[in-house]
Amino acid sequence: MIQVSKRAFKLMLPAMVGVVVAAQIFVGCNSGTPPAAPVADTKAKTDTGEIFVPPDTSTIPHDPFGDMVRYGRDLVLNTAKYIGPNGTVGHYLGNKMNCTNCHLDAGTKPFGYNFFSTHARYPQYRGRENQILTLGQRINNCIERPHSGTPMPLDSKEIVAIVCYIKWLGGNTTVGKHVKGDDGLELQYPNRPADPNQGAAIYATHCTECHGKDGQGQWNGDSSTYIYPPLWGKYSYQVGSSPHRVLKMARFVKGNMPFNKAMWNHPILTDEQAIDVAAFVNDDRIHPRPQKKDKATPDYPDKKFKPIDYGYGPYEDPFSETQHKFGPYQPIIDYHKEHKLPIVF
Ligand code: HEC
Ligand code: HEC
Repeated sequence: MIQVSKRAFKLMLPAMVGVVVAAQIFVGCNSGTPPAAPVADTKAKTDTGEIFVPPDTSTIPHDPFGDMVRYGRDLVLNTAKYIGPNGTVGHYLGNKMNCTNCHLDAGTKPFGYNFFSTHARYPQYRGRENQILTLGQRINNCIERPHSGTPMPLDSKEIVAIVCYIKWLGGNTTVGKHVKGDDGLELQYPNRPADPNQGAAIYATHCTECHGKDGQGQWNGDSSTYIYPPLWGKYSYQVGSSPHRVLKMARFVKGNMPFNKAMWNHPILTDEQAIDVAAFVNDDRIHPRPQKKDKATPDYPDKKFKPIDYGYGPYEDPFSETQHKFGPYQPIIDYHKEHKLPIVF
């Protein structure tokens, strides 16, 4: 499945680069409203130029660095096999998902939680820990949450290999800068709260066939990993991890789901549908998921750095947990602007 989509993606690349401008117009038309204003963000972006194209895997060098790049890529594609609960090199993950389930095509897909500019932007301040994290520590973050696992030693061959792969992938990017396509799609926010009930109907039409009626996904033949990864339940990503946030997920879903049908330049869902379905998937009242293990260490110790769509208080602003989680988001963004608070996504 990964191979097929990867090939299809490569075939589409030349066409995609040529339609950047058209795609932006299309995104606007699709939601039935004028093109969305850029989402305010604390990140410095380079919005000029074309979508970044990562190097082809055939160019990975045949030397000790290249060997680690290849191993890192293999780990990103087959994470559960190596470091899952029954992993061959260690038992670090708490579930059997692979990095590539979210970091699509091993982190090479535009607007698909890719690693285009990742190496160029670490070490980096992270609000959740209120610390500067290295890239290795950031990888461990995803191993702890969403993967419900335990961190790997930072000098382990596996962490070093994944860092090498991410460095190779973004080799042409500028230190400290974003590149075009390295984020989620920009969305126009509705001025009503996201509606999990409407999201349920969208889920039934567009998602159930692969992710299942109960969000359980579908195991592969020997249950060592997934053909279709789970979206909620005890084997899915954790509470408080990035995909558990409505906007973070909606921006990914609009550009990539339903899988193999939607593309960032050919979305299937409107902005409102993507937000509603993300609200349905991430609604804690109906869809339980694993909880954070270490409850003693609070997330976002400096609460002004909480993302706008983070559903757990306390906050620096007066808005409720429900409004942060489901919106409407614009009043929160406006309040942050007015009071010179960071606007984090
Ligand atoms: C359930 C989904 C999911 C899985 C599985 C997952 N991640 Fe992530 N990861 C995310 C999301 C969402 C983000 C935030 C992306 C963003 O902010 O655009 C992220 C961010 C990251 C970042 C920081 C990227 C950046 O540019 O700042 C790294 C590095 C990373 N993940 C590595 C990994 C690795 C390695 C694995 C496998 C061991 C993994 N992730 C598994 C969802 C996931
Ligand atoms: C045709 C099958 C298919 C359909 C339909 C589909 N997905 Fe997916 N989805 C996938 C596959 C496959 C992956 C993992 C991609 C990979 O590993 O390369 C995925 C990954 C995801 C992920 C990230 C991984 C995770 O488990 O958290 C999310 C979120 C997601 N899909 C949401 C949706 C939503 C919402 C819909 C409906 C709008 C949808 N998908 C429709 C096949 C599908």
